[in-house]
Amino acid sequence: MTRKKIVAGNWKMNGSLESNEQLLKGVFAGIESENSLVIVAPPFAYLSQVSAMVKGTQVSLAAQNSSQYASGAYTGETSLGMLKDLGVEYVLVGHSERRTHYGETDGIVAEKTKAIIESGLIPILCIGETLEERQSEQTLLVCAKQINAVLSEVGISNFEKVVVAYEPVWAIGTGLSATAQQAQDVHEFVRKHIATQDSEIAKKVQILYGGSVKASNSEELFAMPDIDGALVGGASLIVEEFVGIIKSAG
Ligand code: PGA
Repeated sequence: MTRKKIVAGNWKMNGSLESNEQLLKGVFAGIESENSLVIVAPPFAYLSQVSAMVKGTQVSLAAQNSSQYASGAYTGETSLGMLKDLGVEYVLVGHSERRTHYGETDGIVAEKTKAIIESGLIPILCIGETLEERQSEQTLLVCAKQINAVLSEVGISNFEKVVVAYEPVWAIGTGLSATAQQAQDVHEFVRKHIATQDSEIAKKVQILYGGSVKASNSEELFAMPDIDGALVGGASLIVEEFVGIIKSAG
């Protein structure tokens, strides 16, 4: 089964009207004939700007977060309906920075993922272990637990609509990427884990790797059979790096 590669750039809390424009112009100029799906996730404040710029290009728009609620007294939150209004197609959910800094539990992540699917948008569900968990050989257990929380909320038939991003927390923003083999081992496990419920869906689910992906290590990662692309943080803010990663995805 050939799964289309995805390269998604998570800009986190970075950018300005001017720098976003420069970055996107550089990306558009660099990627004319690529086959992979390219996604950018700017901060909420710039979704309108980026939405207008990516319209009619091969770049799709993602949000970095969303509320699980439809509307109401949730100060500071953004609903999925609002995101759809702005042309958003993908929503990151369960990023480790949300789990760590904003107290998003497996339960909240599962609720949000369900709401995203119900809204017709596509969740990019982030999972991954901390350094301590890896060192105590809990990696697979943690990933299974994070996946199970979502599976039990949305059901296996809906999992076809989920993109998974395996992001070991110790590799995020540290310059310390997992090796291609370390990543492949977890991706293979995640796919097998999903296959215990439905082998056809497991074959279709795109599993991205995230954590210090750069143009210099992406080719090796993408050569692995269960790595279907990347969720890129720091390197997605540098035109040459992001374009280099997209090119290595083919
Ligand atoms: P990084 O971030 O590429 O800067 O390590 C990845 C992510 O947090 O999605």
